[in-house]
Amino acid sequence: MGRSARIALLPGDGIGPEVAAAAVRVLETVAAKYSHSLEIVPHPIGAAALRAQGVPLPEGTRQACLASDAVFLAAVGDPSFDAEPPAKRPEAGLLALRKALGVYANLRPGRLFAGLNGAGPLKPEVARGLDLVIVRELTGGLYYGTPRRLDLAGGSAVNTLPYTRSEIERVAEVAFRLAAGRRRLVTSVDKSNVLETSQLWRAVVSEVARRHPDVTLEHQLVDSCAMSLVTTPSRFDVLVMENLFGDILSDEVGALVGSLGLLPSASLGDGPGLFEPVHGSAPALAGRNAANPVGAVASAAMLLRYGLSLPEEAAAVERAIEAALASGARTRDLVPAGGPALTTTEMTDTIVRALEGAR
Ligand code: IPM
Ligand code: MN
Repeated sequence: MGRSARIALLPGDGIGPEVAAAAVRVLETVAAKYSHSLEIVPHPIGAAALRAQGVPLPEGTRQACLASDAVFLAAVGDPSFDAEPPAKRPEAGLLALRKALGVYANLRPGRLFAGLNGAGPLKPEVARGLDLVIVRELTGGLYYGTPRRLDLAGGSAVNTLPYTRSEIERVAEVAFRLAAGRRRLVTSVDKSNVLETSQLWRAVVSEVARRHPDVTLEHQLVDSCAMSLVTTPSRFDVLVMENLFGDILSDEVGALVGSLGLLPSASLGDGPGLFEPVHGSAPALAGRNAANPVGAVASAAMLLRYGLSLPEEAAAVERAIEAALASGARTRDLVPAGGPALTTTEMTDTIVRALEGAR
């Protein structure tokens, strides 16, 4: 029996609409192949919404997301809003949406695809076996902490890094459960040699670890972790950390696997999940049919797995991505300067063909 689901689609800015189209094609292929009925309805967010309605997250978009089974977001961000205050920037729409959905656990898997060892800056023998997941706390910490203010003229500014026990506990729980189904190692990343928040983080994560005796917990300082990701990336399994640390280290992982354009994410809470590629709006690439759709398509796979509880369909999409990359299909971000590369639509065609041919 096929199932029916409503997906809110937020294409957003820059390359967002182009990679969103790739994700939609793949979801429609899955729906046809497995007899599901997916109603995919687009809504404005980010700069597109600021231009049309003067706010980065219109009320209609917010309501539609809350009423959906899952939300797919492609990218937000536009340099023409760079001088605006934080609340009037495209990014504010995404931050408000994460908060509205209560998606506190952001899963950002990174692994080395067959055929891509050597695509990134690491020596192949160092990169080999890289297969990790960053679990980024997504609705707290420095991104949301108050007080916050900017007094540009007076030359002072404040941001705040607060966490409560329950915020740390619930995201740590997600990390331990995930690790239990993988290689059973959780690395909790903090800065407890300097920050009080990190001392609480470390204590609470250690408590949660006692409920998961089959999973090993280790603690690592964030600066040291940034270095280990480059020197010994394959030793990591699941890493859990506060919002800003996760933002920074997940871009690093993008470079290690060959391109930030490959990374997907799933943001989970108690209601509909939010699924988005880790990359941004890449304004310089926008409108050129040159962006890598893999991060978006892999996010659609995560939407199928975690958002709609369709693990078989999710795995089929992931195998199609693997097959496309293994056959040598490459967008420009994965090709040394000047070499021949596929367009966004050609790369998507290759993945869709692999998906249609499978099973
Ligand atoms: C990400 C992005 C966002 C973030 C921006 C667009 C607000 O960089 O999802 O990693 O900082 O969380
Ligand atoms: Mn980021």
